[in-house]
Amino acid sequence: MKFHPRMVVLKNGETLLIREVDVSDAKRVVEYMKTVTAETVFNITAPDEVFDVSTEKKLIKMFRENPRDLMIVGELRGEIVSILSLRGFTRKRTSHAGEMSISVKKKYWGIGIGTAMMKAMIEWAKREGFERIQLEVFKSNERAINLYKKMGFVEEGLKRRAVRLEDGRYEDVLVMALLLD
Ligand SMILES: CC(C)(COP(=O)(O)OP(=O)(O)OC[C@H]1O[C@@H](n2cnc3c(N)ncnc32)[C@H](O)[C@@H]1OP(=O)(O)O)[C@@H](O)C(=O)NCCC(=O)NCCS
Repeated sequence: MKFHPRMVVLKNGETLLIREVDVSDAKRVVEYMKTVTAETVFNITAPDEVFDVSTEKKLIKMFRENPRDLMIVGELRGEIVSILSLRGFTRKRTSHAGEMSISVKKKYWGIGIGTAMMKAMIEWAKREGFERIQLEVFKSNERAINLYKKMGFVEEGLKRRAVRLEDGRYEDVLVMALLLD
């Protein structure tokens, strides 16, 4: 089913528009990704691994064409400030489940954007019949873990040293999931 755009009033009184990404957003999505991957190490994608615009266009097209995939953007005054994606698994025996990831521009952390994006995705996923949404998060990413717990996600396991950063440091990765009825 189509994702219906929505407006959400944030803690600072501004209104966030949440809508499905469009192929025409590709350039702005690439710029956004360059910014957020440079702001923290919490994204698995390194800044030099961000797609170029034509690859991003293809990815957005795939997301839009596959009814069980969703990519939504949060816009403040026309600026993309958040992206959330959910991919439904494709094998029959796991097709009730999907994996999500989210980011918010650092400048806008702490005003409820992450919460609003996750709520919108969860409502859509319920309507689509998803029964399980899983994600992976660095064990050290306290803010994100708090957000996920607030939304009902539960810790399921720990992948030790699953990430090796450019400076040689390792990060453990938590697997978390939400069961939907
Ligand atoms: C994690 C992230 C998406 C949160 O987005 P956000 O817009 O700041 O989230 P919200 O403002 O809705 O806050 C959500 C919850 O985070 C927690 N939180 C907020 N500030 C916090 C802080 N300083 N320390 C710890 N937890 C904090 C609170 O539980 C908050 O809920 P509350 O406002 O009801 O108390 C954002 O910080 C981000 O993009 N980080 C970098 C990329 C990333 O880590 N992505 C996740 C990879 S798995």
